[in-house]
Amino acid sequence: MSITNQSVIQGWSKVTDQEIDAFGDSGDFFRQHLLNPTLLDLLGDVNGKTILDAGCGTGYLSRMLARKGAKVTGVEPGESMFKFADSKEKEAPLGITYLQEDLSEFHSEEKFDSVVSNMVFMDIPRYENAMHNCIDSLKPHGSFIFSISHPCFEDVGDEWEDKKQVVVKEYLKVYEIKRHHAYSFHRPLSIYINQIIENGCEIVKMIEPKLDEVVAQENPRGQRDVHIPSFVIIHAVRK
Ligand SMILES: C[S@@+](CC[C@H](N)C(=O)[O-])C[C@H]1O[C@@H](n2cnc3c(N)ncnc32)[C@H](O)[C@@H]1O
Repeated sequence: MSITNQSVIQGWSKVTDQEIDAFGDSGDFFRQHLLNPTLLDLLGDVNGKTILDAGCGTGYLSRMLARKGAKVTGVEPGESMFKFADSKEKEAPLGITYLQEDLSEFHSEEKFDSVVSNMVFMDIPRYENAMHNCIDSLKPHGSFIFSISHPCFEDVGDEWEDKKQVVVKEYLKVYEIKRHHAYSFHRPLSIYINQIIENGCEIVKMIEPKLDEVVAQENPRGQRDVHIPSFVIIHAVRK
């Protein structure tokens, strides 16, 4: 594959200050209403726990977890988002350590109680190494919790309002999708599931979050998630 981790990271490094501001400190609408509640629920009581936020972006989730008492390490290779996260920590310290690294080359001496990765693996060309390194950073029985774009219902373009259906054409193929900053990769769901099993994890829960019908009215793109999940969240445990 010609798209490298480095070229994707260069793309993500161009996220602008205006985009970071607009994203806010709890993330976008879909994070606020679907991803954050699911991830926080799966993580449980994080007070006193060590957590790796793998591919932390602006660090919004790292800060949410640190405010709940977790000792968080955030890994983010993209220059602008890493700098933003690090400057927030310097302005108002929450005890978070941010590292500017590629997850597929990340090795940690410290072993964490949990690793959370929010919407990251479908954006990494060498996702196998990244997932391996995340699992390798866990203590035995530690939790590996990650969200990705739901690969079964990934219809490119926000056409739900017109079509009221999601079209699936080449589900079994692996292919790249050009995004605003970089590329995402469509991979069948079984690729991710088998990857975590082969790396010594047991899957304990899978969630396809549904948007509340009333909440959906607050966002012009919300209706689809009342009917078809945009995300899948997996909770696995290292054996
Ligand atoms: C969709 S964003 C999600 C960011 C953050 N987790 C969130 O939910 O806001 C995808 C993230 O993956 C990061 N990423 C891309 N390639 C990576 C790699 N090789 N290692 C670690 N993170 C990577 C990007 O820099 C970007 O921050």
